[in-house]
Amino acid sequence: MNLSKVADLDVTNKKVLVRADLDVDVTETYRLEALLPTLKYLSSKSSKIILIGHRGRPEGKVAEELKMKPVENELRKIASGISFEVLENLRFDPGEEANNFEYAKKLALLGDVYVNEAFASSHRDAASITSLPKLLPHAAGIRFVEEVNNLSKVFDNPKRPVLFVVGGSKKDKLDYIEGLKTIADKILVGGRLPEYYGDKALESVRVAGSEDKLIIANLIMDKEDITIHSIEKFEEEIKKAGTIVLAGPMGKYEDKGHRQGTERIFNAVAGSSAFKITGGGDSLSVLSIYKLKDKFDWVSVGGGAMLEFLAKKTLPGIKALESANLNKEGG
Ligand code: 3PG
Repeated sequence: MNLSKVADLDVTNKKVLVRADLDVDVTETYRLEALLPTLKYLSSKSSKIILIGHRGRPEGKVAEELKMKPVENELRKIASGISFEVLENLRFDPGEEANNFEYAKKLALLGDVYVNEAFASSHRDAASITSLPKLLPHAAGIRFVEEVNNLSKVFDNPKRPVLFVVGGSKKDKLDYIEGLKTIADKILVGGRLPEYYGDKALESVRVAGSEDKLIIANLIMDKEDITIHSIEKFEEEIKKAGTIVLAGPMGKYEDKGHRQGTERIFNAVAGSSAFKITGGGDSLSVLSIYKLKDKFDWVSVGGGAMLEFLAKKTLPGIKALESANLNKEGG
């Protein structure tokens, strides 16, 4: 992978537009802490740092509860001593998600160079992710490069069996499951996702152990957690695994009454001797609740982005950084 790094970019005294993962609930600060190495580096070069990012899915309109101010306040505590400016939620403008080139040009006018430090958003073909690198000299952030290096260990000669445990509620995760079959030996599907499989889900746990790589959990009556039988099946697979990727909770962990699947599966993975990684906003919150962060070999900032990277070995945001580099070199 030919990613240019911030160290290769002339940032001294420059206005640097940093696309950051600011899509956080301020009680979970891992994604903000992940920005620190790049922010410290830019600060040491006297760069003028302008942070840009999105929160939630406001669909091109201003949403009071998704303004950046609370995130900015939290980041000022975490990055104290570093000067920076934070622009308002990019998704308040429809041009961001539509990847409108005119909108990207307006953003580009604000900086001299561009750094992508938003691995968790780099599966989105959005103006600030894939168009800005066409308009400005650019590089991947320090954390971004670490994400690529660590996640690549899952498809680069991994210890087998390779197991994916995919949960949460975002339906787009289903799109990655076919792609993951090429590197996974087994894929366990929980959270709210089994609902989308209909009757196949009801059969799945019963016939588990067959040739099918996919085991889809059964849900309890109110659909907010997986059944005990499914938990036990998943725990058996976790015991056998050599590499585990855990992406998303098994139920509505925010409710204490619906935490059983999440608690048992996260603890089972944390206690395994496999090479194990996890990532994504909800998984990060679960790790905080059960104090499990230190048990994982790598904790990615990305949820959907982590899965898409593992399924496709690249992301729109990575391709944008690479292809624009080729143009710059005349190739
Ligand atoms: C995330 O939280 O996974 C990223 O911020 C991407 O958010 P999205 O799924 O709304 O594009």
